[in-house]
Amino acid sequence: MDFNDKKWQDGMRVTVDYNYMMSKSLGDKGIKDSEISALSEKAASAYGYVAKNRGKDELFMGWTELPYNQNEIVEDILKTAKEVRSKFKYFVVLGIGGSALGPIMAFNALKHLHYNELPDDKRNGPKFYVEDNVDPVRMAALLDVIEPEKTCFNVISKSGATSETMTQYLIIADILKNKGVSLPDNIIFTTDEKKGNLIKIDQSFGGAFKKYVLPDGVGGRFSEMCPVGLLPAAVLGIDIKAMLAGAAYMDGLCSSPDVSNNPALACAVLQYITMKQGKNINVLMPYSDNLKLMADWYCQLWAESLGKAVDYDGNVVNAGTTAVKSLGVTDQHSQVQLYIEGPFDKVITFISVSEYACAMPIAHGCEDIPDVGFLGGHTMQELIQAENKATAYALMRAGRMNYTITLPAVNEFTLGQLMYLLELQTAYTGALLNINTFNQPGVENGKKATFALLGKKGYEAQKAEIASAAAPDKKYIV
Ligand code: PA5
Repeated sequence: MDFNDKKWQDGMRVTVDYNYMMSKSLGDKGIKDSEISALSEKAASAYGYVAKNRGKDELFMGWTELPYNQNEIVEDILKTAKEVRSKFKYFVVLGIGGSALGPIMAFNALKHLHYNELPDDKRNGPKFYVEDNVDPVRMAALLDVIEPEKTCFNVISKSGATSETMTQYLIIADILKNKGVSLPDNIIFTTDEKKGNLIKIDQSFGGAFKKYVLPDGVGGRFSEMCPVGLLPAAVLGIDIKAMLAGAAYMDGLCSSPDVSNNPALACAVLQYITMKQGKNINVLMPYSDNLKLMADWYCQLWAESLGKAVDYDGNVVNAGTTAVKSLGVTDQHSQVQLYIEGPFDKVITFISVSEYACAMPIAHGCEDIPDVGFLGGHTMQELIQAENKATAYALMRAGRMNYTITLPAVNEFTLGQLMYLLELQTAYTGALLNINTFNQPGVENGKKATFALLGKKGYEAQKAEIASAAAPDKKYIV
């Protein structure tokens, strides 16, 4: 593949089909063309807001430029990745939220589904783990399967103040010290350019750590295409240039204020209309195990960006819809009954794949049992695609709105397109809602309350307040 070849790129174009959202398919349960037209001015102004503020660090819109402004950094990352691959047996990301979900998602999407279990010669790169929790059992389990002295740890934290990440750092640093390892030999920081505790730690080592910058105007959940995601991906041998080229390609497809000519704006307008109808559940259902964790990544992007108490005019709006992750076909046997017959409160977004990495023929057999025999001679690819289409159709027949994003194949270029599409969709939706898409005051409050509970200096008053709020009333304990 040559990801710079225009013809190849066009063959890999990610598309959105929203026929099953519209009244032509759903009758009075669907959206009318006139409803979309009525929003065209508002949509154009949401587009204009994003276009006008592209790249502005002060508005946290630096992510829009990541496909274009990282040539030097990409070369540096590729060099470091090469060294890491030759020197280490394991690569572990320490981070949480936006500093972890992207690296896990890209790993799952683009590497072998049992990557860590592959024999060394087939894996051809370090084993890969992302520790995005502070569950003690999980940390102990990690320590059972890695050899810390043969591990490169990538500590990713924009603020350098996140208790979870810093806890992981403290534990790992102690283990490495006890093994006589010099920390900068085995640890890479990805953090803010100038501030935060990782910078302080680095300064205390005389600047000896290898560091990558999480740019000022890029928030955690929009950071997969900066060093947060690019370094782990490059260490895994993922083609990061192709991923960025995919994002740029999608950016090009979204360069019109006209809904019918901008896939991200179309998705945003559909989501906005359904929000206003009171549909408050937004399900993302990839029909691909490789894209299973795309739903986790998307849920954070959507939830943390759009779940906001007030709008830009100071009105209390309590905006947002609940993003739910689902997996086809697995959740057909778990959730789809609810989607088809439960409340009319959901919009389902399918992610479909035209050409899976392999088709997997289904062997002939059991010809005397027609219920089983009919499967022989088909492929698993045909089966999963048929089930995907059948579920979308059944939902439509039941008057349930759904639309489909199709990837011609799962590769770096299409993943870059998909991420950028969903990021832009989120930014446009936030602009339609007139809210700040890029802050997370709720999460910050939780972080501060944790500091207080663990006795951090300066948080004494909050500790007392939490203690009194949490004083258990025995009447309500059963
Ligand atoms: O998207 C976000 O901003 C958050 O999810 C953060 O990424 C998360 O809280 C971790 O923060 P930090 O990178 O500062 O450690």
